[in-house]
Amino acid sequence: MSFLYKADPVRGAEWARLFALHAPDIPFLMWPHAADLSAVRYLAAWEPPSAIHDCLPNLEVLFCTGAGIDHIDLNAVPPSVAVVRMIESGIAEGMVDYVTLATLALHRDFFTYVKQKQTHEWRAHAFPTARRRRVGVMGLGVLGNAVLARLLFMGFDCAGWSRSPHTLTDVPCYAGPDGLPRFLQRTDILICLLPLTPETRGVLNSALFEQLADGAALVNVARGGHLVEADLLAALDSGKLSNAVVDVTATEPLPTAHPFWEHPRIMVTPHIASMTQPDSAVAAVLENLRLHREGHPMNGLVDRRRGY
Ligand code: NDP
Ligand code: OXD
Repeated sequence: MSFLYKADPVRGAEWARLFALHAPDIPFLMWPHAADLSAVRYLAAWEPPSAIHDCLPNLEVLFCTGAGIDHIDLNAVPPSVAVVRMIESGIAEGMVDYVTLATLALHRDFFTYVKQKQTHEWRAHAFPTARRRRVGVMGLGVLGNAVLARLLFMGFDCAGWSRSPHTLTDVPCYAGPDGLPRFLQRTDILICLLPLTPETRGVLNSALFEQLADGAALVNVARGGHLVEADLLAALDSGKLSNAVVDVTATEPLPTAHPFWEHPRIMVTPHIASMTQPDSAVAAVLENLRLHREGHPMNGLVDRRRGY
């Protein structure tokens, strides 16, 4: 019974050290150097190997090293293999930092001041206090909840939207297609933290932007496939949207000639809003291995029908 790791080798070395420390009884193998793949019961991977059943005939659990699993073809994973996405405190902490940074930058007009600095323009702009800034978070899962807790603490007027109804203290929650218009109408800064599924692909489009408050801003930290990029450019050009912070794009890396790079009101970062942290990730995986061995449901088990 062994555990195979197939992702970033630098962080993999840290996983190997942590396994040796905390689970010395579990043989830890590193792709592609593993000798006996038939002994592998558990795989941690960003991209699993192709022909997964032929390659790993005795696999029981595929642990995705990221929170999102949209890049994995679930049909290619045998039904007997449980797919588990990464739920660990380090990802949430990194995401909370990034979204807080983006929200504050938008709230306090940093895009405008960066431009003014380029032309040596000393000009103040009035701003509302945080409690008058309406922030809307799409996706009330692990990350959406963590982000909302921080933004609420900072005094923002927050709301959330999800697939099924949620109840959160001090956060009005909206659900499903019926709840979306009311959620959008009360949103000045829109944060996307949805999983990418057939239902959510392209959800950030012209029709959605039109329902936001005039001059609203977008933060997309979920997946590039959520955003119709041409519609974002049009909404910025028309003034419907003021600014956008984009951590994920349809094509990654973002091609050098892509209009987002030069656009003065789009901030681009290279998919770094958050990252899996080896110490908390290994702790989360070991806890899931314990649950699995004892016959309990694991944290982050993917519902293949829902796609997240
Ligand atoms: P979760 O699965 O915990 O939460 C997903 C949320 O989205 C749930 O509230 C769910 O609703 C909601 N949702 C799903 N489908 C729909 C729909 N059709 N309509 C409305 N709401 C929907 O995910 P996480 O919070 O852990 O992660 C979210 C995403 O963040 C990941 O899938 C990944 O793509 C992205 N990510 C990006 C990173 C980056 O560095 N940029 C890093 C980590 C993650 P319900 O509660 O009703 O099920
Ligand atoms: C993730 C990511 O899904 O890094 O964890 O995007």
